[in-house]
Amino acid sequence: MCGIVGVVGNRNATDILMQGLEKLEYRGYDSAGIYVIDNPDNSRLIKSVGRIADLRSKIGIDVAGATGIGHTRWATHGQATEENAHPHTSATGRFILVHNGVIENYLQIKEDFLAGHDLKGQTDTEIAVHLVGQFVEDGLSVLEAFKKALHIIEGSYAFALIDSQDPETIYVAKNKSPLLIGLGEGYNMVCSDAMAMIRETSQFMEIHDKELVILTKDQALVSDYDGHPIERDSYTAELDLSDIGKGTYPFYMLKEIDEQPTVMRKLISTYADEQGQMTVDPAIIKSVQEADRIYILAAGTSYNAGFASKSMIETLTDTPVELGIASEWGYNMPLLSKKPMFILLSQSGETADSRQVLVKANAMGIPSLTITNVPGSTLSREASYTMLLHAGPEIAVASTKAYTAQIAALAFLSKAVGEANGKKEALDFDLVHELSLVAQSIEATLTEKDLIADKVEKLLATTRNAFYIGRGNDYYVAMEASLKLKEISYIQCEGFAAGELKHGTISLIEDDTPVLALISSSEVVAAHTRGNIQEVAARGANVLTVVEEGLHKEDDDIVVNQVHPYLSSISMVIPTQLIAYYASLQRGLDVDKPRNLAKAVTVE
Ligand code: M6R
Repeated sequence: MCGIVGVVGNRNATDILMQGLEKLEYRGYDSAGIYVIDNPDNSRLIKSVGRIADLRSKIGIDVAGATGIGHTRWATHGQATEENAHPHTSATGRFILVHNGVIENYLQIKEDFLAGHDLKGQTDTEIAVHLVGQFVEDGLSVLEAFKKALHIIEGSYAFALIDSQDPETIYVAKNKSPLLIGLGEGYNMVCSDAMAMIRETSQFMEIHDKELVILTKDQALVSDYDGHPIERDSYTAELDLSDIGKGTYPFYMLKEIDEQPTVMRKLISTYADEQGQMTVDPAIIKSVQEADRIYILAAGTSYNAGFASKSMIETLTDTPVELGIASEWGYNMPLLSKKPMFILLSQSGETADSRQVLVKANAMGIPSLTITNVPGSTLSREASYTMLLHAGPEIAVASTKAYTAQIAALAFLSKAVGEANGKKEALDFDLVHELSLVAQSIEATLTEKDLIADKVEKLLATTRNAFYIGRGNDYYVAMEASLKLKEISYIQCEGFAAGELKHGTISLIEDDTPVLALISSSEVVAAHTRGNIQEVAARGANVLTVVEEGLHKEDDDIVVNQVHPYLSSISMVIPTQLIAYYASLQRGLDVDKPRNLAKAVTVE
């Protein structure tokens, strides 16, 4: 979703902004722009629809200065045009602003304060910079004008504002949308996430909601909107520059798929000691033990990971688990149990829908645990507890290693709680050993890339639709597998409980409809799924089978090493990630940046 980067100080701003925007590309965007200023008489505003490369092609050596702000826009209000691209300017052109989020009362503001203002585009953002400009025209100082605007604006926002008459300051504020300060020697930065600044600094400072920062080359002064100063310590980010490179891989997604065995081993060393004892935070264990029901709230792939873990959590902890779609629960919270515990699953830790649920949960006094890949993210900061995924940055929009890491992290949590409860199933479950076998199973599947690419070419080259089917955990993997396929190949795909097809959807099966069947459960369940395969094959479907070793037959297409049933969703999803990858690649699509999508979905 929209990305912001800004710098003030002794550096080449154009270079830093462009590098930063390139690092933010993974978030998803459809236009971009930068504003760079050297002195009040020398500044440039450049915008472009399309990729950062298109913006770069418009930038000449005359775009130079030590202060600037840049933006990637993912259109919400108004189409992807240059007029709507950020930065936006005030009526006189004196103020320049970038924004991430949605200003909910922008039409009201326009009516109440900006009569006669000629707005160039259709965005909600433009009113914010006009508002500041108007208040300065009315006689307020820039700071007072910004504060007054912040008191009026409602919704989600991360703002960076420059006054062209004072190129040595960037005014920053945020509410609900992510924004961070990066601290350097003789320069300071602002950015939507650390990845865009890690080349320049490893020192960061958080900004909380409804805080304002006056950023100069030597200082980052934090205050609330009434001007009360706030002390905030900086921290060192653990990110390594090499973690965010693609290396020799053609796409991040393939690199991230390949990293999964390493992520499994990292989780073992994080959540178990050398004797195999769980090292999950005892306060988290206690909080789960006290709950009479666990509610997992998430979106997209993270939601699917919650489902894939549900039966494992219930068996190991003896606590019922309910899943909720975050975008639904934020405003339609169902009747809860007496002692609920909320688990927020989120790769990015910034998903606005999930955050809305957390805000509600906090207001209701419900204990919460965020399981995320991003330390210091909003969901992590605002939940009662955090468990980190330690998967390393996930850059491809299509989530892969975060999904498998979420299931593995939930396995550690479940085993730790189950052991604390004295549950036999938990005590007997040698998670460290079983997860090591999962890592080996993933490695084995990763050696089958050529086979999988070949099968994909035969099955999915020209199709417009497809189905994944499975039972039990395979059904939940089918949901994730179909999301992955449609997300990056644009093939319309549904994940079905295999037995459900004949209750309606089988009418869609015709000659050559691809049906991908997943089989990892018990022999009886496997036999039922095989029956469903016969039903669709009899109606002309082209069937591809992904089957766990032990249940496989000679003519199955892809065989996956057998692992413990609690963890089979991890090993079974790997071939489906590769299927999606090759389907996208073979169609000549941008695997890492599918159309219309964003990596961190920071608007509701
Ligand atoms: O960062 P989160 O896990 O909260 O994101 C939730 C979804 O937006 C995300 O999983 C999305 O579905 C992925 N792009 C799917 O690959």
